[in-house]
Amino acid sequence: MLTPFQEHNYNFAKKCFDDVREMSKDGIGVSRQGYSAMETKVLDYLKNIGQELGLEIATDKAGNVWMTLPGKNRDLPALVSGSHADSVPQGGNYDGLAGILAALSVAKWMKDTGYVPERDYTVLMMRMEESSWFGKCYVGSLGLTGQLTEKDLALKHRSNGKTLAETIRECGFNPDDLTTGKPVVDLGKIAAFLELHIEQGATLDSSDIRVGIVTGIRGNFRHKTIKCIGETAHSGAVDKQFRHDAVLAMAELAYKMDCYWDEWLRKGADLVFTIGVVHTSPTSAIAIVPGEVSFSVDIRSLHRKTLEGFHDLLLSEAKKIGEKRGVKFEFDDLIVSEPLEIHGELSEHLYKSAQAAEIKARRMPSGAGHDTVVFGKLGIPAAMIFVANQKGSHNPHEEMKIEDFLQGAEVLWTAVKTFPVNGIK
Ligand code: GLV
Ligand code: MN
Ligand code: MN
Repeated sequence: MLTPFQEHNYNFAKKCFDDVREMSKDGIGVSRQGYSAMETKVLDYLKNIGQELGLEIATDKAGNVWMTLPGKNRDLPALVSGSHADSVPQGGNYDGLAGILAALSVAKWMKDTGYVPERDYTVLMMRMEESSWFGKCYVGSLGLTGQLTEKDLALKHRSNGKTLAETIRECGFNPDDLTTGKPVVDLGKIAAFLELHIEQGATLDSSDIRVGIVTGIRGNFRHKTIKCIGETAHSGAVDKQFRHDAVLAMAELAYKMDCYWDEWLRKGADLVFTIGVVHTSPTSAIAIVPGEVSFSVDIRSLHRKTLEGFHDLLLSEAKKIGEKRGVKFEFDDLIVSEPLEIHGELSEHLYKSAQAAEIKARRMPSGAGHDTVVFGKLGIPAAMIFVANQKGSHNPHEEMKIEDFLQGAEVLWTAVKTFPVNGIK
């Protein structure tokens, strides 16, 4: 049975999800590239809803949209909740959007029931969280905190070759404002940041507990492009001992790392390892021994030491295999995103809010990365609510039940309603 909060938001949330899916449909999934016209279109649609609700709307220099419901005491720092509007290429509709719509549902409930919160409540809609386009995650939130770097801005788009700087500029924002080390908004005016997100894994969906309270978020060490250079040769005329096959060298490295991964898991490490992109050269052919292959690497863990250790192992294995096979592995710059241990008191507040709302919740870590890390790393109390979803994520088949979403949104609403006047340190 739905609670009054859930009933009130059922059709609203469903319509918003459907509308945004429709406008960003791309084959069987959705594509909402960060800093694209599509992302702007989605934000404009959501801004319109904010306007209808009478929220105060501001866009920061990084293009993120802040929609505020004024509180009784406007001197108090605001409680901020939201997530990202972009998606991976041909991804699912809920990754990111669920967090925005949960935050918006809470604002709508307050407006429609005439509830005035003690402090300002702000729905934050962020741009480009996904790394799929440029290899860098959290671009919108890093931009707003002034933490992008020149190296980040020089990263090239996965297919059109434009730099991140050019892409941000074309979207109407000045990338140079985002690398100063200074936030483009007053972070002192944020009492806490709360992000609801689909789990993107199977843990919640495999039990009757549909809501998670996040304890930590995995960081990642990544290479967008590692090149293995061998020697192109005739695939029939050249015998094994004369070959320097780049693909087989890469395959050996991948296999070795997979074995180490098992070993580290047996020892109790938190670790995942992915080679998500592999390309041989454009002139590769069935009858040619490949002289070059490029691939990406994504190492993730809740612990920095594990990230460092596994990355060191990757480099040393690549060197060994290179020497043995007469090939060379060339690594591009390492892209680092730190893991985050979630703010204890704030996550406890979320857990207690679930109990108060009589919604079953379990504490769990997040395998995926989230903008929450950026706020948490700056010392802003930041925490997350997970909602069960089906068929994983970062794929067009991702699904979520609106009833589960509404349970998570109700935990958020309860946490907002009971947030201490003096804040959470
Ligand atoms: C975020 O989407 C991630 O890749 O973890
Ligand atoms: Mn994602
Ligand atoms: Mn996400």
